[in-house]
Amino acid sequence: MQFRRATGTLDVLPEDQPYRQHIERAAMESARLFGFDRISTPTFESTALFVRGVGEGTDLIDKEMYSFETKGGDALTLRPEGTAPVMRAFLEHGMQSRSMPVRLYYVVPIYRHDRPGAGRYREHTQFGAECIGIADSSADAEVVALAWEFYRRCGLEGLELQLSNIGDEVCRPAYVTALRAYYASRLDLACATCRERYERNPIRLLDCKVPTCQPIIDGAPKPMDYLCDACKEHFDALQAHLRSLAIPFRLNPRLVRGLGYYTRTVFEVYPPIRGAQSAVGGGGRYDRLIEELGGKPTPAVGFGIGLERIILNLREQGMKVAQEHPTIYVAAVGEPARHHVLPLLQELRSADISAVGVIDQRGLKAQLRQADSLGVTYAAILGDDEIATGTVQLKYLKSGEQQNVARGGPLLDAILAPKVETTRSS
Ligand code: HAM
Repeated sequence: MQFRRATGTLDVLPEDQPYRQHIERAAMESARLFGFDRISTPTFESTALFVRGVGEGTDLIDKEMYSFETKGGDALTLRPEGTAPVMRAFLEHGMQSRSMPVRLYYVVPIYRHDRPGAGRYREHTQFGAECIGIADSSADAEVVALAWEFYRRCGLEGLELQLSNIGDEVCRPAYVTALRAYYASRLDLACATCRERYERNPIRLLDCKVPTCQPIIDGAPKPMDYLCDACKEHFDALQAHLRSLAIPFRLNPRLVRGLGYYTRTVFEVYPPIRGAQSAVGGGGRYDRLIEELGGKPTPAVGFGIGLERIILNLREQGMKVAQEHPTIYVAAVGEPARHHVLPLLQELRSADISAVGVIDQRGLKAQLRQADSLGVTYAAILGDDEIATGTVQLKYLKSGEQQNVARGGPLLDAILAPKVETTRSS
């Protein structure tokens, strides 16, 4: 029997790690640039937090949570999204008394029991950012600008930012009434999911992908046409901010999000080649969530970006991120020399030079073949003569050049000195 990874999960192999490190670095550096501090919350939380925060009637809560009961009888859920836990921590640690805005970011695993497919996993990693305490649209613009900076640092090109405003508690009820009234006479033409959404989460009707539902959606009322004055003003101001930052966007009146806590601004970012995988990020404003979780009313806005999808898109765009290799391989010929391998490795490592070597019976050729396959720059070869004279044969693998160098300072200098390529005349 051979064990395999669970459906919808990924192994990040050593050759994939450089991509991972590249984008995690991009996340940390862009967050730092915008003054966001990192927060880490537990992988699981009480199930009630997500039900309360995200809302019943959403696929995430109704169908996709990894929920379980502990031996002690607690109902817990593996984090299906990052915002509710951060708001829980914000309240639990009294961050409401800090000076606003509180800017937080995270890079965490997320668990969703979704149908796996290209770019859709049951465990993925999100870079998320939340700006808490500012109602003004400038905070929305800052959050979008942070996401934009992140994509730029990753090297992703050709992205499309889609933007909408889904109203607030003042204008949304009238919109939902209009949407329901429109659908009431068309329900028998709509798919089964739409009929369910009509009952439980009508705004999600706009997000149906079933072809026969498209003509119905095209004719349906759109949230942007029902905005109250305050929402409209917020939306206009956000667009002006984005223009002033030269961040291109497209208004998408059909844009709604899968999570229930959004008010006003919603946005999603799409790659140029869509395939089966979709958004490389999404977010919006959620001015009622903190209150919903028991805090005093506090506006907030944020985003989540799936790192695996970023890697897929970088690869699709042909971007290569080089893997780092050890600098030097220590090879030994003969028994006495083999005793010097570990001390020499230690010497090199204490000078911060990454060094590898294997002590076994294989011959020099096999050791150098391995050095080659590991992508190291140098081999240090130890034999009886080298041991007797306190030197090594330092071989530069790219050109095959070799020189006898004394161990200690001269060896370190030779390795650390910038390598000047000698061009050979033919
Ligand atoms: P979300 O749109 O559900 O938002 O997820 C954010 C991003 O995570 C998506 O745009 C996508 O890149 C990635 N993602 C989502 N599901 C998967 C999956 N199954 N496999 C791979 N990647 C996936 C949120 O979760 C909100 N908490 C974002 C937010 C923060 N809104 C305000 N603040």
